[in-house]
Amino acid sequence: MERERPIGVYDSGVGGLTVVKWLRRKLPKEQILYFGDTARVPYGGRPPEEIIKFSRQILAFFVEKDVKFVIAACNTSSALALPSLIPNAPVPLMGVIGPGVKKAAVEVKGRRIGVIGTKGTVESRAYTEALQNVDPDIQVWETACPRLVPLVENGEWEGRQIETLLTEYLQPLLKHNIDTLILGCTHYPYLMTAIRAVLGNDIQIVDPGEAAAEEAVLELDRLGLLTHSKQGSDGFYVSGDPHVFGTIAKRLGYKADLEVVDINRY
Ligand code: DGL
Repeated sequence: MERERPIGVYDSGVGGLTVVKWLRRKLPKEQILYFGDTARVPYGGRPPEEIIKFSRQILAFFVEKDVKFVIAACNTSSALALPSLIPNAPVPLMGVIGPGVKKAAVEVKGRRIGVIGTKGTVESRAYTEALQNVDPDIQVWETACPRLVPLVENGEWEGRQIETLLTEYLQPLLKHNIDTLILGCTHYPYLMTAIRAVLGNDIQIVDPGEAAAEEAVLELDRLGLLTHSKQGSDGFYVSGDPHVFGTIAKRLGYKADLEVVDINRY
């Protein structure tokens, strides 16, 4: 049955698991297949053509797995690849930026919004454009934080070193008196405790992963693709060394049965 097929979710590494966490809460009965492109992480400093090629390969892998829907749980891919891939995608495909923007601008009603993300996401200005499409009076400041993803992939999520680095990255945004901060990279929610410590309690933090999960429920429903099964399941695939990913997945409570995929075959 069409609706009983799995959902594909991908990221460069462990970042997208922060989106899976929300998907699991909102879609507990779905079968989720996760692909982490750990052989090629980080995506953040790579040129758009490469991100488009990688995203296309991952889509082809998911088509082979017969998925019914794909979520790019990666802001860099959402910003640089999805605008050109969505129109001809072989399966319905959504990213995290649109939902994150809606949450920050419409629900949270941020008007002075800071965005942290990878170099690729920030340089694309995808967040600024989308936020100002909702309301041209919204002011947006974006900052690239290239040193965060390698730390997160290494399992370093808290402590003095992280807070010092975050202070360095967030200071320019704080100077603009932001009322809202968008975590424009799916790796950053791992650093939530440290980010909150640096920001204080007055600034709202938006995790686009949560918004994307809410949007996925609506989209699947609209397409008539919500499963009727009684229990969900997870499958994990990586393109590189499975150990680092496996350790983090276990730390998050996933059973870490991993399969290594030769993504260059696609
Ligand atoms: N987690 C991804 C994102 O949301 C990619 C980070 C990276 O690999 O640089 O942008």
